[in-house]
Amino acid sequence: MDKLFELSKINFSYHGTIPAITDVSLDVRKGEMLAVIGQNGSGKSTLLQIMCALLMPSSGKIRFRGKEITGKALRDRDFNRFFRSRVGIIFQNSDVQLFCPTVLDELMFGPLQTDIPPGKAMERCSEAMEMLGIERLADRPVHMLSGGEKKKVAIGSVLTMNPEVLLLDEPTGGLDLGTESFLTDLMLSLHEAGKTIVIATHDLELIGHLEPRIAVMSENHGIEKVGSVDAILRDTELLRKNNLVHEHVHRHGKKLHRHVHSHYLYHRHDD
Ligand SMILES: Nc1ncnc2c1ncn2[C@@H]1O[C@H](COP(=O)(O)OP(=O)(O)OP(=O)(O)O)[C@@H](O)[C@H]1O
Ligand SMILES: [Mg+2]
Repeated sequence: MDKLFELSKINFSYHGTIPAITDVSLDVRKGEMLAVIGQNGSGKSTLLQIMCALLMPSSGKIRFRGKEITGKALRDRDFNRFFRSRVGIIFQNSDVQLFCPTVLDELMFGPLQTDIPPGKAMERCSEAMEMLGIERLADRPVHMLSGGEKKKVAIGSVLTMNPEVLLLDEPTGGLDLGTESFLTDLMLSLHEAGKTIVIATHDLELIGHLEPRIAVMSENHGIEKVGSVDAILRDTELLRKNNLVHEHVHRHGKKLHRHVHSHYLYHRHDD
């Protein structure tokens, strides 16, 4: 499989003092689904923001389709357009993503920045609104939406750009179960349609449904292990160490019972 992103020995710290990414080397292959998992503060969101060039690494190299992404490369108008139209990010917090007066303006914004004619852009917006079930919100100011509705608008604003790569930061955070399962199906369909998808999450149930390749980020902001769903989810020690499962104590009759708990790793009792 072709490599879409190549990250090599990336380091990043906020304000030069708060470490967020330590010596990360990772490839993202064209058309794959990759999940970056890890405890709070391990660096998942920072990594996604480096992949969409909102943050530049302090050291190390990042390449997209073989071309190194640097400040200089992005100052080139053609490359900037090429890169921005191919890589879309959905932020962990929708409030930082939405800035237009209405929902429809928000969905139109991306396509209108490119060479897509207004008629075609409107067509894409209608399709996205229908798919996400938000047509009735088209004229609503974005600050008058619920958290889940904002998340849908944020997803719509990226889908209307029809990017090759979707970076989704905690996509299921704050969603009701119906919306969460809709979104899971949407990610599977987008993947099936050939999109490359990178998800940052600590939702192991979501991982169980999507079966992506997994990279585990550790407390010290590096990548601790990369592997299949099977290899990672069976490694309880790794999951426990990285706060992805916790010990759970409960009672069976008079017996106190302790075991690793997560919603994904269902357990069996023999007695
Ligand atoms: N804007 C910021 N300014 C300063 N430090 C930050 C900023 N954003 C994140 N950090 C720090 O960088 C490190 C990595 O944060 P990041 O948000 O990438 O983690 P995360 O894995 O996405 O966490 P979470 O699961 O809570 O979303 C943390 O130590 C965090 O405190
Ligand atoms: Mg995060």
